[in-house]
Amino acid sequence: MTITINDIADQAVRATRMVAQVRGRMLAPEAVKSPPRFNASQVAALCEIDKNQVTYRLTKGDLPPGQVNASGSRREFTLSEARQWVQAYRSKAARPKGARAMTIAVGNFKGGVSKTTTVMTLAQGLSLRGHRALVVDMDPQGSLTTLFGILPDTEVREEETFTALAAGDEQTIDYAIRKTYWDGIDLVPAAPSLFTCEFLLPSRQMKEPEFEFWNVLNRGLESVRDDYDVIIIDTPPALSYVTVNSFMAAEGLIVPLPPSALDFASSAQFWTLFSDLALQLTGQAGAQKSFEFINVLLSRVDQSDVSAGVVRNWIGATYAEKVLPVEIPKTAVTAASSAEFGTVYDISKYEGNVKTYRRAREAYDRVTELIEQSITEYWAKERV
Ligand SMILES: Nc1ncnc2c1ncn2[C@@H]1O[C@H](COP(=O)(O)OP(=O)(O)OP(=O)(O)O)[C@@H](O)[C@H]1O
Ligand SMILES: [Mg+2]
Repeated sequence: MTITINDIADQAVRATRMVAQVRGRMLAPEAVKSPPRFNASQVAALCEIDKNQVTYRLTKGDLPPGQVNASGSRREFTLSEARQWVQAYRSKAARPKGARAMTIAVGNFKGGVSKTTTVMTLAQGLSLRGHRALVVDMDPQGSLTTLFGILPDTEVREEETFTALAAGDEQTIDYAIRKTYWDGIDLVPAAPSLFTCEFLLPSRQMKEPEFEFWNVLNRGLESVRDDYDVIIIDTPPALSYVTVNSFMAAEGLIVPLPPSALDFASSAQFWTLFSDLALQLTGQAGAQKSFEFINVLLSRVDQSDVSAGVVRNWIGATYAEKVLPVEIPKTAVTAASSAEFGTVYDISKYEGNVKTYRRAREAYDRVTELIEQSITEYWAKERV
């Protein structure tokens, strides 16, 4: 049987339609994602206080009271209400006046290592600590955009992505920022057409000698760095022009790395490729670049895999203090959640094993906590 390009195009249409249908079912009825809701104990945990303190504070009436069910036995808070509580109790963790957003890129040229999941959970985790995040989807696959319940193929136009900056049609990223279902997280979405940046950027460099193809996102973000506490960028699994832009815009870099021999080997190439390129840029173009932190995050760790222990040792020996002191377990929690286009933080009440959920949740919370520390240090240092 011969398969023509037209057959593949037909196949593409069917596949896109199927994704839309699946999403429609999963996020039914209105095909829009909804954020989790929080009971009083969960709000207390987020505020790092005792549940009795929530009850007491409610009598003061200065924070949102949430909604009490008909029998009066249960109080429930929306995400936005819960965040107001958190902001009241964690005001010390807030960004000081004069400090700007810290920009963090998540990258690894290897596919499927959980880059996108890391971006999403980190943004959600930080927002639940009261912070305001902008997430930027720089991957033409648009997985991050999909996690927000938005279909990159049909619901995002080319001019609503980074492409307009790359083309020079826009100078600042503001045009591409949209609100999301998650209070405290705004999104710059991706579409498959982001791929054109791989031609646009080098061709502009040829025509405009002053142009800095690596600096487009960095410049574009400049105008919004006062509006957010953190900007987190998701990158494609390749050393592409958009990946270079993402790294050059960032002060922090997180490299998710599962403890498997193949992933470890390809991570070695990551550092070689990236440093070669960065040296070339700094040498020829005089671009300056340094990072506040580079962290390796052990991701998708399969506890039952004996070889993982060996590879973990290699990773420790190679990356030493860069390895974050936490491991993200390989977990069925996300897959089993009612919204499969979601993460651990999208779940209000886990239907499965409580221990499994707690283990996953604690790991993501710990990553959030560690990165929050880096952000706080950055604010203290950069404060003007
Ligand atoms: N801790 C985990 N346990 C189990 N599955 C996970 C975990 N983290 C991520 N996954 C799953 O692994 C797959 C790849 O994750 P993700 O999309 O985050 O990786 P990625 O590095 O962004 O991939 P790509 O290179 O394609 O952009 C997804 O199906 C995701 O749901
Ligand atoms: Mg991804």
